[in-house]
Amino acid sequence: MLTDTQAILDPSDPKERLIVALDFPSAAPARTFLTQLGGTCRWLKVGMELYYAEGNSFVQELRTLGYEVFLDLKFHDIPNTVAGAIRSASTAGATLLTLHAAGGAVMMEAAAHAASQLSASPRLLAVTVLTSMDSAQLAGIGITDTPADQVLRLAKLAWASGIRGMVCSAEEVALLRSTLGPSAELVVPGIRPAGTAIGDQKRVASPADAIRRGASRLVVGRPITHAAAPQAAAEAILAEIASAL
Ligand code: C5P
Repeated sequence: MLTDTQAILDPSDPKERLIVALDFPSAAPARTFLTQLGGTCRWLKVGMELYYAEGNSFVQELRTLGYEVFLDLKFHDIPNTVAGAIRSASTAGATLLTLHAAGGAVMMEAAAHAASQLSASPRLLAVTVLTSMDSAQLAGIGITDTPADQVLRLAKLAWASGIRGMVCSAEEVALLRSTLGPSAELVVPGIRPAGTAIGDQKRVASPADAIRRGASRLVVGRPITHAAAPQAAAEAILAEIASAL
């Protein structure tokens, strides 16, 4: 199924659908990895590990190299603090920025307002339920609904708060696509090509399955960053995405 998302410039271009998670402790190994990747990918995700080590300057470096950056800092704090964090983190030029939907409607409304006031507004993505969480882990924090019910509840809350992008697992992406419609930007981590290790993830799917179920973009980390040949691993995933479009 081709997903018509307004946020994607060319939905038929597999490079628009793959985000590589740069989960490295500092800029040096990340730069080495990018050399190994050889320009195969257009989108990179910078998460807490790398951002807390290098800050906005490394995001700016990636932008100067021509990459689109998904800055995955998963804000979760009081509304005023999250609004300020969005202003500070946006100065480096990230295109996508995350916050936890569990922070609530007022927090998400403050975040959406803060982003809308910026000259180069990042698109906000609400993280619903982490792909490393299953029913047992949700029960441990007092949520006895299924992951799918909790994802839907949080996604509807985020949408009503003015946020048009969500992070969910491949298990819920079809439900969110049918509920929110074609304009929602649905970003799916927990992607595991056949034969790769699942690691700490719980709710996983192959690249082709996630795209067919309605994902706008896939986030892939270790199946590429830990591969013996990262460029070949990325090319194989791009080919799998292309086969599903
Ligand atoms: O290595 P792997 O492919 O599991 O990496 C997945 C990436 O997606 C990690 O950077 C992780 O922080 C991120 N992520 C996730 N689940 C979410 C949101 C983000 O795994 N719900």
